[in-house]
Amino acid sequence: MPAVADSVHDLLVEAAAGSGAPTDGARLQVGVDLGTASCVLVVLADGRPVRVDSRPSGALADGVVVDFARAVASVRGLREAAQDALGTSLTRAATAYPPCIPTADARACTFVCEAAGFDEVALVDEVTAAQRTLDVRDGVVVDVGGGSTGVGVYRDGALVRLDDRAGGGHHLDLVLAGALGLSLEDAEPYKRAHPSEALPVLVPGLQRIAENVRALTVGHEDLPLHLAGGALMIPGAGDVLAGYLERTVVTYPHALLITPVGIARSAP
Ligand SMILES: Nc1ncnc2c1ncn2[C@@H]1O[C@H](COP(=O)(O)OP(=O)(O)OP(=O)(O)O)[C@@H](O)[C@H]1O
Ligand SMILES: [Mg+2]
Repeated sequence: MPAVADSVHDLLVEAAAGSGAPTDGARLQVGVDLGTASCVLVVLADGRPVRVDSRPSGALADGVVVDFARAVASVRGLREAAQDALGTSLTRAATAYPPCIPTADARACTFVCEAAGFDEVALVDEVTAAQRTLDVRDGVVVDVGGGSTGVGVYRDGALVRLDDRAGGGHHLDLVLAGALGLSLEDAEPYKRAHPSEALPVLVPGLQRIAENVRALTVGHEDLPLHLAGGALMIPGAGDVLAGYLERTVVTYPHALLITPVGIARSAP
């Protein structure tokens, strides 16, 4: 597999470590990722991650805010904890929506952040946010989260196609639960704790995700796939996609932080 640019690698490793460096006088940017699986808040100081915190979500389904109050409570809790830790007030943020959902649903993400105490909220789509971290010039950004697969095709650094499909880590959990006779709640941690046992069972589910990627990149088969999002963090998943689609695949450490960091980079 091709090597990841050092700058992107270091950024993600730093984000995962949550360096907590002093922020006196630094420009702070806050990103809020209202995901299906988890709600993540990232604070950048002069572009470097100083805080990454998350809470289980349960407030979103298919990219839509289904439990507004719960989403607000999660974001407010994350914001207040970050303010306490950094000793400063955080009033501006960016948040993101899955590409191709109706405008009204996308704006609900803004309202959640406003209700959680942010005065000024910028809105980007998740794939554009992932691209802000990865800076792919010619390639496909694939964000496979808990519930959906977002795909953005870049040529010469410009977005030429953007789409998404249902299907992500939650669907892999369903496959695993059915095959191993586990409850859905047990399947998710099993997948992370026993990846080498889970992977063979998950191959058909991964091929289904691959088929979605294939359908959303017709005419762009020459471009490498860059994998963001948590669902394909299971070791070997990138190889399954690469072999099945016969395409070059680039994987990243802590891929589930790619989109949240990019959202923060989009913040005012
Ligand atoms: N180490 C891991 N191995 C396998 N799967 C993982 C791992 N870590 C997280 N996941 C899976 O990644 C998914 C969550 O990814 P992510 O945080 O990108 O989703 P999300 O942003 O909440 O969802 P969406 O973008 O679809 O709204 C979950 O299905 C989780 O089970
Ligand atoms: Mg996501």
